[in-house]
Amino acid sequence: EKGGYDHFMLKEIHEQPKAIRDTLASRTKNGLVDLSKEISLSKEEIQNIEKIHFVACGTAYHAGMVGKYVFEELARIPVECDVASEYRYRNPIITERTLVIVVSQSGETADTLAALREAKKQGARVVAITNVVGSSVAREADDVIITWAGPEIAVASTKAYTSQLIAIYLLGVYFAQVRGHKSAAELQEIVTHLQELPGKAEQVLKLEKSIESFARSIAKHQNLFFLGRGLDFAVALEGSLKLKEISYIHSEAYAAGELKHGTLALIEENIPVISLATQKSVYDKMVSNIQEVKARGAHILGLAVEGDTELRKSVDEVIRIPATIDLLTPVLAVIPLQLIAYYACVERGYDVDKPRNLAKSVTVE
Ligand code: M6R
Repeated sequence: EKGGYDHFMLKEIHEQPKAIRDTLASRTKNGLVDLSKEISLSKEEIQNIEKIHFVACGTAYHAGMVGKYVFEELARIPVECDVASEYRYRNPIITERTLVIVVSQSGETADTLAALREAKKQGARVVAITNVVGSSVAREADDVIITWAGPEIAVASTKAYTSQLIAIYLLGVYFAQVRGHKSAAELQEIVTHLQELPGKAEQVLKLEKSIESFARSIAKHQNLFFLGRGLDFAVALEGSLKLKEISYIHSEAYAAGELKHGTLALIEENIPVISLATQKSVYDKMVSNIQEVKARGAHILGLAVEGDTELRKSVDEVIRIPATIDLLTPVLAVIPLQLIAYYACVERGYDVDKPRNLAKSVTVE
């Protein structure tokens, strides 16, 4: 059942090229996105959306954070992203022109379901992105985009996350087509890059050996940092959650520009720091943040994009993922972080698929 892999998590990490391909399949037409079978919102309703709320928990929440960038960039709709357990109790401002997008692998997370019900009660339209056909969230939302990741058994979510990102990109491009903030040519280019992601994810998986050796080398540490800016920050949060969840190494993810506001005090000799530098728009800023950390003796793994020969000069080790557009990089950048969490856990001898104190689906509040 584990298909020759030692653990479900490793199998599921390796299933990502297929999960991405399947989630994209039959949702594009003439080089653009077609979600007309799944999204019942009319053109006019999409045009009238005033704001979007992403609501989810854990890894799905981190996908929503990427969603904030995607919808603000492509469709120019203001977006908030909240964890469901906060959203439902904070009296959020919802109108009939608010679109709430709930993201849930299982479709059964109690807080996410409660947030969905609250949003509907207050008149919002709700789109669900979920991996389980017929789940509670799928049944109760107005519209559903299924992620075709297949069953995810390991508690640590991997292929569900990358498929959620794909669903978010598809919906973002779809809305952009309707709202006309980008030209058809620009959107077609994004779709072309989306279609190249399965092959590029396969390329990332070929880096497994060097990622494994880095992961094993950090397994003895008690503390670690993830740094990134923009979309790299959203991915850093996900990498940090994955590491904590299964390897029990304490880690923090920081927006690299925030370091100077306190966290830099925690950077000491030899502490491992995983620095993501995949975003061209903030690359120079990121490199100077990395240099600040390096000057305090950190041991830095840099995550760069193929063709980047600069970053190597400021870090101790570097992993290069295939190049794509900044917007889509999270799909590829997260894979090395998943593998780091996996091999750090294996090295420490913990139960990969069933970490302590956690359940796959959190059906209590
Ligand atoms: O089924 P859901 O996507 O609603 O689950 C949400 C979280 O419980 C889940 O993503 C959790 O954070 C993962 N175990 C993280 O790997």
